[in-house]
Amino acid sequence: MEFPFDVDALLGERVTAVDQHLQPPGRRGPGYTAAHRVDLQQQLMTIIDEMGKASAKAQNLPAPITSASRMQTNHHVLYILKDNEVKTAGKGAIIGFLKVGYKKLFLLDRHGAHNEVEPLCILDFYIHESLQRHGYGKELFQCMLQRERVQPHQLAVDRPSEKLLCFLRKHYNLQGTIPQVNNFVIFEGFFAEQHAPVRKLPPKRAEEEIKPYSLTDRECKRPQGWRV
Ligand SMILES: CC(C)(COP(=O)(O)OP(=O)(O)OC[C@H]1O[C@@H](n2cnc3c(N)ncnc32)[C@H](O)[C@@H]1OP(=O)(O)O)[C@@H](O)C(=O)NCCC(=O)NCCS
Repeated sequence: MEFPFDVDALLGERVTAVDQHLQPPGRRGPGYTAAHRVDLQQQLMTIIDEMGKASAKAQNLPAPITSASRMQTNHHVLYILKDNEVKTAGKGAIIGFLKVGYKKLFLLDRHGAHNEVEPLCILDFYIHESLQRHGYGKELFQCMLQRERVQPHQLAVDRPSEKLLCFLRKHYNLQGTIPQVNNFVIFEGFFAEQHAPVRKLPPKRAEEEIKPYSLTDRECKRPQGWRV
């Protein structure tokens, strides 16, 4: 994915982690004024918005779940993979991104007990169509695992696509899922090494359904009366 500005210099590293402050890591220094910084931040926001739209299209979502404005209001981390090889007139290009964040969730263990946990969640993941199945997704995912210091089986995945399920099975041998009543998918081993649950809940009464604290980004509306 190409942009009409110097992506290469803007992002600096091969994989850049961006948080809610949306600070582009590249091109810092005494020569750069506040106006420059605003320009660079605007460029970063453009990249995030365009990637978010492309991801939504690839997943047939009604609207992007990743955008610069959403990044500013959530404690998510966006890992952006840039292309070091393709140099379009010194501009560089973006290969894809991976968005993660911690969420408080109620998740069922193998025995059907509800556990209140706060795992790192895979929230959005996209590699440009022309570059899928070339190992870029694995490169990006590996980088995220190292920087976040988590093991693949400790993750919760927000409504994974079939491609992502294949990806996780192939690269991380994640296949046995623990069924949930929400849209998050977790795998065998999640509770074995997960940091201790925040709270183990008493068995639920038959008529009440336990919901995740944090609704998935993929759901637009909160049910009436829902409080967090
Ligand atoms: C899921 C995704 C991020 C993986 O990135 P990637 O760069 O293609 O992954 P890698 O090249 O590192 O790994 C390739 C493996 O991913 C899985 N995969 C990737 N594309 C696939 C496809 N079209 N169909 C089935 N599996 C696919 C396969 O396991 C594949 O291995 P294989 O080619 O030997 O079958 C990428 O395919 C993508 O952006 N898909 C569209 C958006 C999406 O579904 N995102 C997940 C959001 S929940």
